[in-house]
Amino acid sequence: MTSLDKIVSLAKRRGFIYPGSEIYGGLSGTWDYGPLGVELKNNIKREFWKSMVYSREDVVGLDAAILMNPKVWEASGHVAAFADPLVECKFCHSRLRADQNEEIKAHEESHKGKKVEWTDPKQFNLLVEAKLGVVEEAKQKVYLRGEITQGVHVNFKNVLDSSRMQIPFGIAQIGKAFRNEITPGNFTFRSREFEQMELQYYVNPKDASRWYEYWKEERMKWYLALGMTKTKMRFRQHEENERAHYARDAWDIEYDSPFGWKEFEGIHNRGDWDLSQHQKESGQDMAYFDQQKQEKFLPYIIETSGGVDRAVLFFLANAYHEEKDRLILKLHPKLAPHKVAVFPLLANKPELVKKAEEIYSQLSTFNPQLNPAWDDRGNIGKRYYSQDEIGTPSCITVDFQTLDENTVTIRDRDTAKQERVKVDDLTKAVDIK
Ligand code: GAP
Repeated sequence: MTSLDKIVSLAKRRGFIYPGSEIYGGLSGTWDYGPLGVELKNNIKREFWKSMVYSREDVVGLDAAILMNPKVWEASGHVAAFADPLVECKFCHSRLRADQNEEIKAHEESHKGKKVEWTDPKQFNLLVEAKLGVVEEAKQKVYLRGEITQGVHVNFKNVLDSSRMQIPFGIAQIGKAFRNEITPGNFTFRSREFEQMELQYYVNPKDASRWYEYWKEERMKWYLALGMTKTKMRFRQHEENERAHYARDAWDIEYDSPFGWKEFEGIHNRGDWDLSQHQKESGQDMAYFDQQKQEKFLPYIIETSGGVDRAVLFFLANAYHEEKDRLILKLHPKLAPHKVAVFPLLANKPELVKKAEEIYSQLSTFNPQLNPAWDDRGNIGKRYYSQDEIGTPSCITVDFQTLDENTVTIRDRDTAKQERVKVDDLTKAVDIK
């Protein structure tokens, strides 16, 4: 089994990620998050929001509609230029991305010795179309957003007029995006429906380079602070011919994944592309007036654009550890679906169960985000291993000594060491802000 297969298998078995619409044979490029997956995903999004919005005075949040007037996508250049090069195998008519060398090579090898011929590359637009309206013949064509970004830029003036933000400032957003990917694959890595977490930071063009460097470093620090291994993370600058149509400069944060170094997050200098395009096509003035400097200009946009699903996948891959007799998911405690588990040593001793229930309810009242797990099945060793596999940092066991001394054992996931702690000190011992 490759390490990606192991992650896919764990994700399904323990309820992190399932194939979308599985009972009907699935739908390529779609995934459903199970009881643990939704917690991990929400924890990632919460940490993003905490670092971007709650801890900064220069960033506010926004939640724009997925469906937008199609003129937005014409203005943003996505109708004309949001495309990947598609080639078709002349033997079996499989369609692949011409710029994905590894996939092309694997396909050629699958034809065992035959010389594969490809059609010339054609630009294939990635926008997903939908139809809106109640009269069949008069339905309006709309696009499911191909990036969450445009919902922010069309609201640039609304945010300025309804808040006290002054440049430099940013707008953060998290939400779904859709792309008609030619070859979805590598589990959730390339999906057709996925979530993005973005910051659009508006700056004076003169300061764009400085802010670009600043945000590159901030984003790398964020991933490292949440436990990503430093040696498995790097920056890579896009070649000029690789850059998206809106980008003056583009760097990826890449991760050394089970299928090679891959894009984790894109950081772009979008220049004034978006605001000038929307100004031109909507006829609305998108310029910013700096009162202090008495200067009017179209701000440049520095964008940080991460994939939430890629973060789930890469945090899982990075946390996956096999030891001789156990599998441990060494997730950062802030990301772990359950921060703590509570066990009565024996399920058939009502006094132990009652005390464990009290502790469970105390912890979840104290901080609902601890999301305690409960387990009273089988032997205690198996319960520990079961929590190790899903990344629970601490397991609390209520035993007979608890009843005498009001103490419990806390077992640490990574070291498997146990210590005895007073019940009164428990909240301090397991608290994770
Ligand atoms: N607003 C800029 C933008 O969308 P991008 O580089 O196309 O830039 C940003 O996408 C991030 O979104 C990527 O770094 C990746 O994490 C995520 N992403 C893009 N396409 C994806 C897909 N098909 N499946 C999962 N995540 C994807």
